[in-house]
Amino acid sequence: MVDRTDGYVTDIDYTYGYYPEFNPVRMRLALLNAGFAIPEVSTACELGFGQGLSINIHAAASGTHWYGTDFNAAHASFARQLAAASGADIDLYDDTFEAFAGRADLPPFDLIGLHGVWSWISDRNRTVIVDFIRRKLKPGGVLYVGYNTLPGRAAFAPVRHLLAEHVNRGEAGSRGIVERIDDAIAFSDRLLATKPDYARDNPAILDRFEVLKKSDRHYLAHEYFNRDWVPMHFATMGRWLEPAMVSYACSADFADHIDALKLTEAQRDLLAEIGDPVFRQTARDFILSQTFRQDYWIRDARTLSEPERTEALRRARVIATTDRPELPFKLRAALALNKAGPGMAAYDAILELLADRKTRTLGEIEQAVRHKGISLTQVAEAVTLIASCNHIAAAQDETVTARARARTDKFNAHAIQSAHVGDDIDQLASPVTGGGIHVVRSQQLFLSALRRGYREPEEWAREAARILPAGPDAADLREQACAFAADTLPTLRALQVV
Ligand SMILES: C[S@@+](CC[C@H](N)C(=O)[O-])C[C@H]1O[C@@H](n2cnc3c(N)ncnc32)[C@H](O)[C@@H]1O
Repeated sequence: MVDRTDGYVTDIDYTYGYYPEFNPVRMRLALLNAGFAIPEVSTACELGFGQGLSINIHAAASGTHWYGTDFNAAHASFARQLAAASGADIDLYDDTFEAFAGRADLPPFDLIGLHGVWSWISDRNRTVIVDFIRRKLKPGGVLYVGYNTLPGRAAFAPVRHLLAEHVNRGEAGSRGIVERIDDAIAFSDRLLATKPDYARDNPAILDRFEVLKKSDRHYLAHEYFNRDWVPMHFATMGRWLEPAMVSYACSADFADHIDALKLTEAQRDLLAEIGDPVFRQTARDFILSQTFRQDYWIRDARTLSEPERTEALRRARVIATTDRPELPFKLRAALALNKAGPGMAAYDAILELLADRKTRTLGEIEQAVRHKGISLTQVAEAVTLIASCNHIAAAQDETVTARARARTDKFNAHAIQSAHVGDDIDQLASPVTGGGIHVVRSQQLFLSALRRGYREPEEWAREAARILPAGPDAADLREQACAFAADTLPTLRALQVV
């Protein structure tokens, strides 16, 4: 008899992560860019939703009916509080994957997703999930999976093994999970200080261990201290998913769509010789020593004809999500070095156009930059690259935005109120993008002051200072509030967050 947890930690909560890869609006842009026909997402499902920020934001900000489960009762309870606050169309369960998969009251789904789950559960649960996808994903439906992969995680496996064995040894006694994690880290630190041969042969583990030492214990408990920790090669993942009848579509990470960003010319040429898409990913992961993959898979994928793709691209809409959309210096340097992509002229023209914070279709952008000799393909490539830096996001239809606005307002009011007591929710919901926007606690407190009628940044800073414990000094907060008023607030207004 397998117990309910099946080796997964349940005595400590996970962190409050938000993952835009689940957002159907963003997903459509990625799939479209890769040339696939895209489904209308009316029903979606998130497995292992953690604290439930993603599922709640996506349900509040869209017309999609979301379903999800997470067997950690504290997670499900937090997620339900968010759902009650927004009134979103969402069904949240605290079932195990097995019990959830056995429910008779679930509809078929256009999108099923799981992030940070696959590598940390048992083979038995992976089999349950694959069978669930086989039965519940609609033809044309999309599967999103984010998981630890190889070869990037290979060298760290013995470190994880050492930590987990230390935590689980008999003499650990009745100490709580956090204390046992601290003990395991302290022991491994001392072991590494003796300059073991394993560290000599795999020096990269030392930096990774330094990061681990400083990481949130809630994160570490779920990342390294479950019974199962199975980073998986892409091809192995493909074999696991065969019974689910899905095929690889594209990466959910926009940066992966632009080969010139990460690959040298020689690497691109070599990969271009590989016809088999699965083997191409295998070779790519080897080149990049990939540690985590975020992929979209499709059931019965349909490739768009060139005219269909052109038409769909022209209709796709985007909006700036930062005050000054611009390409980071490192990225400009990488593009210049690789002499690839549509060129700086295209990026700069598009960034300039979107800086006015208006939603535009790619067709409108094409028209506006045509006189500079920039084609629709170049516009699409530039938009994908700018989206990879999170400086722009895909936008949904205005009718959907209008219907979602009341729910996102309620979600945001709840999040802003919770900033008075902590910093768990660092995302607000935008009915324009259908997703979350990163807004830190001090900024949420400025918004709280604004909602209570204070008009001046000085007042926002004063109100925030009352709440932030040992936060920035008064002058610092005033400066932050002024910058917020000048730059961030207009963007949040354009995104209808405020
Ligand atoms: C590492 S966390 C990731 C949470 C969330 N997806 C995120 O990325 O923030 C994995 C989640 O899966 C849930 N989980 C693990 N095994 C499960 C099972 N058998 N049934 C339901 N939920 C499970 C855990 O409670 C946990 O919240």
